[in-house]
Amino acid sequence: MARNEQASTSESTAVGGLITWPRRYNLLTDVFFLGRTGRLIAELADAAGVRSGDHAVDIGCGPGRLVRELSSRVGPHGRVVGVDPSAPMIDYASAHSPANCRFELAPAQSLTLPDAAFDVATSSFAMHHIPEAERERALRQIFRILRPGGRLLLADATPTSGFSSAAIRFMARVSARRHGGAAHGHHAHDEVRGHDHGHDEVHGHGREGGGANDPLAAVNVQRYRKVLSDIGFTGFEYRTSRFPVGILTAVKPE
Ligand SMILES: C[S@@+](CC[C@H](N)C(=O)[O-])C[C@H]1O[C@@H](n2cnc3c(N)ncnc32)[C@H](O)[C@@H]1O
Repeated sequence: MARNEQASTSESTAVGGLITWPRRYNLLTDVFFLGRTGRLIAELADAAGVRSGDHAVDIGCGPGRLVRELSSRVGPHGRVVGVDPSAPMIDYASAHSPANCRFELAPAQSLTLPDAAFDVATSSFAMHHIPEAERERALRQIFRILRPGGRLLLADATPTSGFSSAAIRFMARVSARRHGGAAHGHHAHDEVRGHDHGHDEVHGHGREGGGANDPLAAVNVQRYRKVLSDIGFTGFEYRTSRFPVGILTAVKPE
């Protein structure tokens, strides 16, 4: 459960919408998924295709639930790195994860992890927290750190009911509270910083669910197909979970 203190040196003024309350976040997700978050996390790990001995990375790992699920799948000979620019999330995840997990305090757009180091990269409910202008850079970083043949999984909510839409809008409203320039050091533990819902497209690659400020548009992972394809990913598959979640997988060619 090592925590790598190598903080990123992002030149970006807007790091992203940092969530800095891990326990409350766990509670909120349990409410949102009606107490079945564990089943969703297992489904994401299945869809990521992670195997024993793999090296996996989870981008925007938050409190580390998916990291821990991946770590049980990769076993003692594998390893999992969780990355998040929120210090409280990284502290919490480090304190609650087993020995084959390591954590990096960094935004996705400024990864310092080595090239071609991972078999699997996952990112759940995090892409829309990255400032729109930085999302392509983040996806290019993920491509860089995956080995040829490595798999990417992006997952986010697909609001299918009034309840889930309302919950996403609520989270977006809370997250939209701005506190000046976002940074990723230690802050007051009950804030969400600098969330960028003002732009809902990655270089014009599609929008669904509403206007530019609609948080329901920002969570659609299918919107990343075009930019991922431009970056070099292939083998796209999209499925909807039994939960209100969309799962997009892609492969870095051999
Ligand atoms: C909604 S939470 C998702 C946490 C976890 N992946 C999950 O599935 O529960 C979004 C996470 O993205 C993180 N985040 C914000 N900006 C980011 C960035 N630029 N790069 C990576 N993660 C970011 C937040 O701090 C937060 O922990």
